[in-house]
Amino acid sequence: MAQLAVVGAGYVGLVTAACLAELGHGVTCIEVDEQKLTRLRAGDLPIHEPGLAELVSKHQLDGCLRFTGDYAQISDNDSVFIAVPTPSRENGSADTSYVLQAVDSLIPYAKRGLLIVIKSTVPVGTADYVAVMAPVMEAGVEVVSNPEFLRQGTAVYDFLQPDRVVIGASSLQAAVDITQLYASLDAPIVAVDRRSAELAKYTANALLATRISFMNEISHIATTLDANVDDVARIVGLDRRIGPAFLRAGLGWGGSCFPKDLLALSSVAANNGCDTPILQAVYRTNELQRERAARFLLDAVQAIQDPVVAILGLAFKPNTDDVRGSPALGVAQLLRRHGVTVRAHDPFALVNASRVLPEVDYRTDPYSALDGADALLLATEWEEYYDLDWILVRESMRGKTVLDGRNVLNGGLLVELGFRYWSFGRGTNHNGNGSTPHENDIALPPIGGATQANANGAKPHQDAIAQPPALSGADVE
Ligand SMILES: NC(=O)c1ccc[n+]([C@@H]2O[C@H](COP(=O)([O-])OP(=O)(O)OC[C@H]3O[C@@H](n4cnc5c(N)ncnc54)[C@H](O)[C@@H]3O)[C@@H](O)[C@H]2O)c1
Repeated sequence: MAQLAVVGAGYVGLVTAACLAELGHGVTCIEVDEQKLTRLRAGDLPIHEPGLAELVSKHQLDGCLRFTGDYAQISDNDSVFIAVPTPSRENGSADTSYVLQAVDSLIPYAKRGLLIVIKSTVPVGTADYVAVMAPVMEAGVEVVSNPEFLRQGTAVYDFLQPDRVVIGASSLQAAVDITQLYASLDAPIVAVDRRSAELAKYTANALLATRISFMNEISHIATTLDANVDDVARIVGLDRRIGPAFLRAGLGWGGSCFPKDLLALSSVAANNGCDTPILQAVYRTNELQRERAARFLLDAVQAIQDPVVAILGLAFKPNTDDVRGSPALGVAQLLRRHGVTVRAHDPFALVNASRVLPEVDYRTDPYSALDGADALLLATEWEEYYDLDWILVRESMRGKTVLDGRNVLNGGLLVELGFRYWSFGRGTNHNGNGSTPHENDIALPPIGGATQANANGAKPHQDAIAQPPALSGADVE
């Protein structure tokens, strides 16, 4: 059993701390936010993550996990994991000041031979830079890169059953020491140099975002050429060279990582003389997706006085309360700028969302958000939205427009019930009247015009029926 510390009790730090305790290590989790610390000590988790509360409580009780704000408590530790934020600066580069601050804070208490393990996503060269900082060298500690690949919403599962563990080290001994911490996991451990480990993390996120943006581009082509992007995704996903994950069209990606990591990778590349046209396009394509959704909704309510749009789902993806980079909030902001009243519901993210966008009318019940609304945007595919009582919704909504931002609802059923149902990239077969597709995909149908699903007996989207997508484009990070 190793004595470990984790700096930062956020989405990555708290999960890392609880899971390292689950692997049998003694873990001290250091957090500077007093409020968070008080809540954690009282057994009240500041974030929502399935399975995490149980692990934290189990290991607080057995003494393997404790929380502190005092760096002095790491004096016996073998390794300290750093899991603090690396947000975007204005110019897109990653702000590593939290990481450097954490290093400064821990060095006075570090015993010789301690390993500083950087879990935060940091620009290539950061670990090398930290390793040669004078206080670090004087303290006789070594620096390892151990990027984290967990996804919010399935973070505990991902940590304990990872696809791989990546260790970037400059000495064999350091690589072996960190490998041993993870020895009980059934996962390949890839030991490389620190720079390759750092670049691998950015590459993974950039590639996942690229797949989603790429399929969103295909979804516009599908609409225009009267094909169904869901079928296209299924077909190309069966190709073993491609695989089925991250091919779902919709409102696009968000979260705390994809946007900032894409920008940071572009930025570090540019600073070193490398062009990144693909990364730029991936980012812009994602922005366009939100703009298209907002434009569609604005068009749907343009003739209405004091229009109201309801948004279901605010978290950037299901099973998290995190709204950082949330597509839903992006659309809400655009609608508010055009004077539309936005009512919104989310099972877990209301508090976080209300801090970011206070001008939205937040409701604790989805039906309350829909009551009197002129249009609905399903923005996050929480399972509870699949089973809404659509007859009740029809009676309570003022308008009948439904924009399915995640291609998960039963469009055929909704059309039968009298809704104007629209989704992303499913072609004019489903418009009901074979009308000419619109230049901008889902956007800008005439008010009272075509419905996207089958009003003329065309085959409904049998595969869009109330099933959680096995592989959603939103299941990011
Ligand atoms: N969120 C994810 O899904 C995810 C996945 C993989 C990697 N990452 C990366 O992990 C890092 C952390 O992300 P996060 O989402 O957990 O961030 P977060 O904001 O949820 O948590 C960071 C925590 O660190 C604390 N903190 C900041 N400075 C500190 C210091 N000097 N000492 C102690 N605590 C300090 C903050 O108070 C906060 O609680 C980022 O680099 C991110 O890119 C995140």
